[in-house]
Amino acid sequence: MAFHSPRAARVRPHAADVTPTEPAEAMEPGAPEGVAEAAPRRAPAHRRTPDGPLLRIRGLRRSFMVSGEPLHVLHDCSMDVERGEVVAIVGQSGSGKSTLLNLLGLLDTADGGEHVFDGVDVTRLREGRRARLRNHGIGFVFQQFHLLERRSALANVGVPMVLGGVPLIRRRAVARELLTSLGLGHRLHSQPHQLSGGEQQRVALARALSLNPALILADEPTGALDAATSEMIMDQLLEQAQHRGAAVIVVTHEPNVAARADRTIHIAEGRTY
Ligand SMILES: Nc1ncnc2c1ncn2[C@@H]1O[C@H](COP(=O)(O)OP(=O)(O)O)[C@@H](O)[C@H]1O
Ligand SMILES: [Mg+2]
Repeated sequence: MAFHSPRAARVRPHAADVTPTEPAEAMEPGAPEGVAEAAPRRAPAHRRTPDGPLLRIRGLRRSFMVSGEPLHVLHDCSMDVERGEVVAIVGQSGSGKSTLLNLLGLLDTADGGEHVFDGVDVTRLREGRRARLRNHGIGFVFQQFHLLERRSALANVGVPMVLGGVPLIRRRAVARELLTSLGLGHRLHSQPHQLSGGEQQRVALARALSLNPALILADEPTGALDAATSEMIMDQLLEQAQHRGAAVIVVTHEPNVAARADRTIHIAEGRTY
């Protein structure tokens, strides 16, 4: 597979059904049905891809109160990520990688700095709209999979679609298609404890892809897997992202994984460089 060339500026559907020229607070939420297809889609005529990168952060800061004292974890994080680009974030344990990924995933809010995702100034969004933008615009893959126990692979893949209001029949069809495309067509009804680590991560990948996000965030996605499985997961992650024109930001310790990215951003003591 050719993962060497930058995949910037690939045309893809707009992640959130918003009009990027409007102020963030004036935007209306999207209709869930329109974002439920697993296959790549063309952007509807009324949408347009906003100018500029998919993601732009400048001087992002985050601190936490620990024993009454502020712990400054992120001091100054800046980056642009283009549509379809694959970026590795590399740094030592404790350097702030997961904290940064939580901000980029709209799971947490920065204390200061600029943060624009898919044409939307997310620092100005209220929680409801942040949640919709997160659910439709961003897919997550974690080191420890974070699947729901005692739920089938199909049900796990359906979780973002449940939140997105996608009807059950459509959810099942999308989940089945995604799992089958990832080689798990024979595991649709298996629960996480019945699956290997690599299979669980493929379920998590299918879940991340289920609403066809513009950005996939992967926090050490191969950290719990052996070398051969790790390579297979990265193949599938990058292949699926490329197929959809999705950008990928992958946090990793592993040089083999970072080497698959178009570009590496380093982070040390809460600063990107
Ligand atoms: N919610 C929190 N409260 C207090 N400290 C935190 C919190 N989240 C992260 N930290 C601290 O921030 C630092 C960076 O954490 P993290 O982003 O998880 O690092 P990495 O993913 O690079 O290993 C660590 O010292 C961690 O203990
Ligand atoms: Mg981490």
